[in-house]
Amino acid sequence: MNLKKSIRFILNDQEVNAWESPGRLALDFLRDTQRLTGTKEGCKEGDCGACTIILGSLQGDRVAYTPMTSCLIPVGELEGKHLVTIEGLNLKSLSPVQAAMVDTGGTQCGYCTPGFVVAMTAWLMDESRSVDLEGAKSAMSGNLCRCTGYRSIKEAGSNVAESLSTKLGEGDRVAQLCDMKALPDYFIGIPKRLAAMQSSESESAASTERPLIIGGGTDLYVQRGEDIPDQEVALLNLGKEIPVVSESNDRLILDARMTFQAFGDDPLIQKAIPDIQAYNELIASWPIRTRATLGGNICNASPIADMTCLLLALDSELQLSGGDVARNLVLKDFFQGYKQLAKTEDEVIECISFVKPTANTRVNWEKVSKRAMLDIATVNSAARFEVEENRILEGHLALGGVAAIPLYLKEASAALAGKVVTPELVLSVVQLAQSEFDPISDVRGSADYKRLLARQLLLAHFLKCFPEVISEEVVYAAL
Ligand SMILES: Cc1cc2nc3c(=O)[nH]c(=O)nc-3n(C[C@H](O)[C@H](O)[C@H](O)COP(=O)(O)OP(=O)(O)OC[C@H]3O[C@@H](n4cnc5c(N)ncnc54)[C@H](O)[C@@H]3O)c2cc1C
Ligand code: FES
Ligand code: FES
Repeated sequence: MNLKKSIRFILNDQEVNAWESPGRLALDFLRDTQRLTGTKEGCKEGDCGACTIILGSLQGDRVAYTPMTSCLIPVGELEGKHLVTIEGLNLKSLSPVQAAMVDTGGTQCGYCTPGFVVAMTAWLMDESRSVDLEGAKSAMSGNLCRCTGYRSIKEAGSNVAESLSTKLGEGDRVAQLCDMKALPDYFIGIPKRLAAMQSSESESAASTERPLIIGGGTDLYVQRGEDIPDQEVALLNLGKEIPVVSESNDRLILDARMTFQAFGDDPLIQKAIPDIQAYNELIASWPIRTRATLGGNICNASPIADMTCLLLALDSELQLSGGDVARNLVLKDFFQGYKQLAKTEDEVIECISFVKPTANTRVNWEKVSKRAMLDIATVNSAARFEVEENRILEGHLALGGVAAIPLYLKEASAALAGKVVTPELVLSVVQLAQSEFDPISDVRGSADYKRLLARQLLLAHFLKCFPEVISEEVVYAAL
């Protein structure tokens, strides 16, 4: 079967009309077909950042640019977009980022260097990110280097921040960076060129009886990347519009195609969950968060899925389409066994919704992993409490990493309803929770260790959400 399609996009400053299987990896297309070998292949699993590119999509009259790992992007998703590789960042002389890497000795064998330069350039292009050392470190959180020990690379980031922070102002960063010779001038013409491409007819994604549903592809390409180019795919993120959060009555409604990054950046979510950006920093890396979707996190059904754990505690509801009838289902009833979901293969999660947190809501999320950043959880946990003074009207507790599914603690949650928060209540509920799971020992930790972590994370919710009535001293003395 010939799966190939016409895929039109701008690659650096050239328009490309590729004839490709939509599920083929962008990384393979760049290196093997285009011979743009500056984009390196390292892990091919989203972990090392050697393959980082910047993808731009037209939003109104501007292009929004985000860094992504090309080893997890289907080439079909490039349709109508601007793909920037390391080659597309070259100017007649070194850009400030390139110069800083040279000046600080930030490159040794050089294999990781294009990825770092691309990630740092993406950081400067994104006006929502702080231009300081912390901003640089966060932008490079998805890049590994085995030679330098990172000190010189961090110094390069710090130098770039120092030299550009006062020059970069509000508004269109791309124009400012072109002016200061940090980006090539061709970027200025990209919005118009992309707009012209959108208005002309281009072939849409394949549509067959049962194509493989791909959200961000960050799980699928890691698990079965070699097979996907030979399959029909349904690319959920082919649309031009960026999935957003909306409000309806007392609920927040999220498009399931929303990425972790977009979720954390959304003003409605930041109001509802004030610590969401800090949580996001502990989940994957920036180039993965710009791809990984909420729907994919739920449907991959990993017992340690971070966003799923949070959404379980928010007592979320799913809206599914594609079956005989569109239907709603509460998330806590979605997981039936290890990777077994209460949905047919044809059903797609369209939306996720939960009751909007108010001033009387307290939400907390915790994660323990071996490395602080860019690591999956050993155990994670989330809680939501609806409170009136010191009484919990409604409580929802979720735990990951202790069972075959992301776990909603039904009994412990129910035991909180209507109760005044006291150290005795907290200890009894945490004790009750222990009867709801039976962890197994694996590479991330022994069963006993996970039990201990689960207890500590559950206690942490109460300590953080009710500091006025419960303290570490009292809890630990009573344990
Ligand atoms: C380097 C790296 C680090 C990671 N770190 C973390 C981490 O810290 N925490 C964490 O939780 N996860 C992490 N992940 C895992 C992954 O990024 C998430 O699980 C992500 O949410 C998957 O979403 P996706 O859109 O990429 O899924 P995809 O790979 O596109 O799809 C996953 C599954 O869901 C199905 N699917 C996708 N969307 C829908 C939908 N709307 N309706 C129905 N089915 C759908 C697909 O068919 C597939 O079966 C990491 C992954 C990588 C590569
Ligand atoms: S090759 Fe390692 S992140 Fe893509
Ligand atoms: S310079 Fe060799 S891997 Fe970074």
